[in-house]
Amino acid sequence: MKKIAFLIFCVFVCISCRQNSHNNHHEEHTHNHSNYQSGVPAHKLIFPSATPDRIIVNLTQNPARSFAVNWRTNQQIDTAYIEIAKETHGPDFLLNHQVKRIKATSQFIQLENTRDQEPLVKAAYHSVVVKNLEPGTTYVYRVGNGANNNDTWSEWFQIKTPSEDINTPFSFIYFGDAQNDVKSMWSRIIRKSYKMMPEVDFMLHAGDLINHSESDREWGEWFYAGSFIHATVPSIMTPGNHEYDRTTGRKNLSALWRPQFTLPQNGPLEELKETCYAIDYQNMKLISIDAQSFINSKVSRNAQTKWLDSILSHNNKKWTTITMHYPIFSTKKGRDNKELREMIQPLIDKYRVDLILQGHDHTYARGYASNEGLGKTVVENSGAIYAVSVSGPKMYESQNQEWMVKRGEYTQLFQIITIDNNTLNYNSYTSKGGLYDSFSLVKYPNGKKKLTNHKPDINIRHKKDFVPKN
Ligand SMILES: [Fe+2]
Repeated sequence: MKKIAFLIFCVFVCISCRQNSHNNHHEEHTHNHSNYQSGVPAHKLIFPSATPDRIIVNLTQNPARSFAVNWRTNQQIDTAYIEIAKETHGPDFLLNHQVKRIKATSQFIQLENTRDQEPLVKAAYHSVVVKNLEPGTTYVYRVGNGANNNDTWSEWFQIKTPSEDINTPFSFIYFGDAQNDVKSMWSRIIRKSYKMMPEVDFMLHAGDLINHSESDREWGEWFYAGSFIHATVPSIMTPGNHEYDRTTGRKNLSALWRPQFTLPQNGPLEELKETCYAIDYQNMKLISIDAQSFINSKVSRNAQTKWLDSILSHNNKKWTTITMHYPIFSTKKGRDNKELREMIQPLIDKYRVDLILQGHDHTYARGYASNEGLGKTVVENSGAIYAVSVSGPKMYESQNQEWMVKRGEYTQLFQIITIDNNTLNYNSYTSKGGLYDSFSLVKYPNGKKKLTNHKPDINIRHKKDFVPKN
C-alpha cells in the first residue's frame, strides 16, 4: 500500500515538474507555442540565453593576420565583446593588461520557421573580425557581455594563426553534406575527425550543413555537434541547395547564414558576399563558388565565372582548391550539373587547379576529368582531382563513371588533407577511422603533378541494407 502511494506521489511530482518547466518557457520566451509540436529537448538547441552559444571561428581573406568570431545570445544582450590575449602556459595571460577587449557588431534577428512548426526565436547575433594578429601564434579568446564575473562569458578558447612561412605544413578537414539527423548522426563524425587530427588548421564544409535552411533547431544541432571544435578550429563553408530557402524556390539564402558566419566578402556581386569568395591560406588559394546561385541566375553564373577567371589568372599560390556544393562530375547519371561543368571546368583546366571538393550526391567518388590514369597506381602528369563526399547519414546510390578512381556508398566519411610544401596528401576516413581512399600529389617546379594512388585499408562496399529504415 505504501509502495502504491509512493508511486502515485512520484507520478504527481513528475507531471507538476513538466508543467512547471513548460510554464517557465512561457515566462522566459514571449512567443506563441500554440502550434509548436516538438519536445522540450529541442528548446535547448533553439533558444538563446544571456550566455553565448553557437560560437564559431571563420577564416578571413588573410588568415595569418586575422580571424572572425560569431556567436549568439538573447536580445537582452545588446552589447557584446571579445577578449583576446596571446596564450600563456598558465592563467598569467590575465595579468598586466595583456587581454585586449574589442566590441562586437551586434544585430537582432527574429525568425519563425513555420514549415517545421518551430516557435518564434528572437536572438542577438554578434560578430568580430580580430585584426593585426601575428602569424604562427596561438591566442586565447572568450566572448561575452563585458560583465565582471564569468557567468555570461564563454570559456577561453585557444586558436592558432597560420605560419608566416607559407611552406610550413598545414592540414584541413573536408566534410561533404552533414544535412540530416545532424545531432544524432553527424556529431561523431566531426568529433572523430578532431580526435584523429586535433592540430588541424581549419575545416571545410562543402554545403548542405543542414536540411531546412530556416530551421533554427537544425542549425542548433549543427552547432551542438561541433561544440567547442567550431570555436577552436576555424572553418569555411560553401552554401548548398539546402542553405537556400525551399519555400522561395531556393532563391533566398538562409536568413541565418550571414548573421551566424563571417566569411570573406570578396566575391563578385553583393548577393554573393560570404558565399563566393577567395582566401589565401599559406601557399594555397582556396575558393568557394556559390553553386546554387550559379544555377539560379545567368547574372550570377556570368559574374562568378568572370571573377574566377580573374582570381585564377592572378594566382601566385602553389596550390589551388575550389569548393562548391554541386559536383562538376556527378556520381550518378541524371544528377548532372551541366552549366557548372561547361563554364567552370575550362577554367580549372586552363589554370591547372589541383583539387575540387564537392558534395550533394550523398555518395563518395574521387577521380579526374580524363580517364587516362584509370587503373594505374602512378600518373605522371595528373590534371585536377575531383572529389564528392558525404559526412551525414543520408545515402544515395551511385554508378560507375569514367572519371572515377574510387567509388563508394553508404559510408559516412571525412577527409584530412595535408599540404607540405610541394606535396599534398589526401586521406578519406570512415566514421570509425578506417582509411577509405588515399592519394598524394607531388608538384614539380614546371607545374607538373605526379599522382600516386594509395591502397585503402577499407575495401568493403556497403550496400543499401546498411542504412536503417526510418
Ligand atoms: Fe545538396
